[in-house]
Amino acid sequence: MILGVDYYPEHWPEERWETDARMMKSAGLDVVRIAEFAWSKIEPNPDVYDFGWLDRSIQLLSEAGLQVILGTPTAAPPAWLARGHPDTLPVDEHGRRREFGGRRHYCANSIEMQERTRRVVSAMAKHYGKRVEIIGWQIDNEFGGGRTARCFCPNCEKQFRIWLKDHYGSLEALNDAWGTVFWSQTYSDWIEINPPRQAAEQPNPSQVLDYYRFSSDSWAAYQQIQVDLLRELCDSRQFVTHNFMGLFHDLDYHKLAAPLDFATWDSYPSGHLDRWRPLVYPPDSTLSPVEPAYAYDVGEPVITQMGHDLTRGLKQAPFWVMEQQCGQINWGAYNPGIRPGTVRLWSWHAVASGASGIVYFRWRACLYAQEQYHSGLLHHDASPDVGYEDLLLLSQEKTLLDEISRQPFESPVALVLDYNDLWAIQIQPHRQNFGYLRHLFVFYQALTRLGINVDIVSPQADFKGYKLLISPTALLGDSTLATRFMEYSDQGGLLLLGVRSGFNTPSKIVVDQPLPGSFRDLAGVAIKSWHSLPPGIGYTLGSDLQGLSGQATIWAEALGPDNTAQTLVTYRSGPFSGMTAISERPLGWGRVYYCGFYPDNVQALGLLRYLVNRAGIPTIPRLHESTIAIRRGPYTILLNFSDYPHIVELPGRSVTVNPRDVQVVRSDFLR
Ligand code: GLA
Ligand code: ZN
Repeated sequence: MILGVDYYPEHWPEERWETDARMMKSAGLDVVRIAEFAWSKIEPNPDVYDFGWLDRSIQLLSEAGLQVILGTPTAAPPAWLARGHPDTLPVDEHGRRREFGGRRHYCANSIEMQERTRRVVSAMAKHYGKRVEIIGWQIDNEFGGGRTARCFCPNCEKQFRIWLKDHYGSLEALNDAWGTVFWSQTYSDWIEINPPRQAAEQPNPSQVLDYYRFSSDSWAAYQQIQVDLLRELCDSRQFVTHNFMGLFHDLDYHKLAAPLDFATWDSYPSGHLDRWRPLVYPPDSTLSPVEPAYAYDVGEPVITQMGHDLTRGLKQAPFWVMEQQCGQINWGAYNPGIRPGTVRLWSWHAVASGASGIVYFRWRACLYAQEQYHSGLLHHDASPDVGYEDLLLLSQEKTLLDEISRQPFESPVALVLDYNDLWAIQIQPHRQNFGYLRHLFVFYQALTRLGINVDIVSPQADFKGYKLLISPTALLGDSTLATRFMEYSDQGGLLLLGVRSGFNTPSKIVVDQPLPGSFRDLAGVAIKSWHSLPPGIGYTLGSDLQGLSGQATIWAEALGPDNTAQTLVTYRSGPFSGMTAISERPLGWGRVYYCGFYPDNVQALGLLRYLVNRAGIPTIPRLHESTIAIRRGPYTILLNFSDYPHIVELPGRSVTVNPRDVQVVRSDFLR
């Protein structure tokens, strides 16, 4: 279990560096991440490198007993590059160039930027790649942050055409795959195809989806330039990673994480509360709790949890939090001051969720510029802030943290997340507020309420070992995925498919077979009809299962089971009355379920309770919504994010968890 801090020596006078290093060590920290925005200090003029200051800083840190993670500085290209090569700057969908003055101001497809990247990364790798003080590298910083995932410049235009040629081979194939005969969009030359800038009326959805894919692939290719150089020039002991952003979804994180040694993410629970709540709760429903049950300064625990679970799922392996909020931030709608105990709670939450390293952002609050109101472990005046005090508490708990961290993270359930499906739904939701992540979250939240560990994984992940696999919206799912699901189920797994599965081909045109397309044989049902439901309209459900009543709202599909499948839940009112709403089909040693409506919280809980029982997965009953329970080996970690004590009923005993506190319980019986 590693604790560290994000540090910017370049923001402080050199005379201060030694004191900082000493204080870091005495606070129990092991590692320091530096340099990820220091390009103009490292290369003040083109091809003129200055490593002197960085060497001195690393030496002081190392003398104090700290190890170093180096950021490659490419998230902040220097002014000389923007000035000399304005074509390195990105262009938005309205054709406006985004100027120098912030960060992430570059196009991943700029040849000049790529060349400058090679040079600065090689220079750093040659200088530091064999040093024992350096334990690893963070490439760039938060790819896609600040709405920079998609650039619409002439470089990108050219590269998009090349990407399309590679992908489709011929114009004829592209015209077919996009359905360009519609509205007379047929292309007769590659040169006619542009990025979907501002189209009149709406752009072609297949074109937009491919642009999202192309943009994401562009970042993966750009990252690969750095991965290759670091692998070639550095000691293999030095790891290579990147700091992801949890529920951020403009890039395909599964592809970006593939070449890295492990994944990390930047966890800011109080900021994510207001940024991500709209992503996971439909605004026109009652799914979102009106009165948050959790304390005002902790963020929303289940959302933070989803960030952890998603990041762990990127490689189905332990991860790091590369930036852990440790006080107030500066970018939320509200930036509440953080009370003593909250940073400790967040840290425990991260470790329990499988983080093997936590790096706090940042060491000391900066006096100037964009983040001058952002806190650090130290106040602006260098006196300890609340996070520093919490860190001292955590150091005393290090033995237990280490013990938890050593336990394997085992999840009996996995949720499948496919960025292609997410983008496709985003491009054509067909119903306001049908969000891919919202639909996924309904199932996710129910599982966390049952106290079950969940992995959020890619469709290419290894499904073996999961007792229950949930694929909420495999909109573009094809026969390859159907076969993988079939094998999984055949070997004894329970599979739950959700609405809109198999509706479209991978290029996002509708399949010309009965729905759910490729999943029809797998699920043993045909969808006879599907309705997007406006607010206030619902079709009554009927079943003997607890919780599976009320009305289907948002989206409903009428299922017709074939002779391999049975009906678990029926529609009792509305045009689908008498038809199947949820089907169940035995397959090999396992079972396949199709949930034909978008469940609300209570319905999802009812369905999942039924499924986890069938799968033999132990649950924790009556878990309060502000309490998170995570299993690690023989331990259950209970975290209370409210201002009130909560009693958790475990088999044979009840445990009181104090407000904003954690309890670690041995619980072999829950495995
Ligand atoms: C992000 C960035 C950091 C910093 C913090 C502030 O996560 O990676 O550089 O801007 O936010 O919260
Ligand atoms: Zn571009």
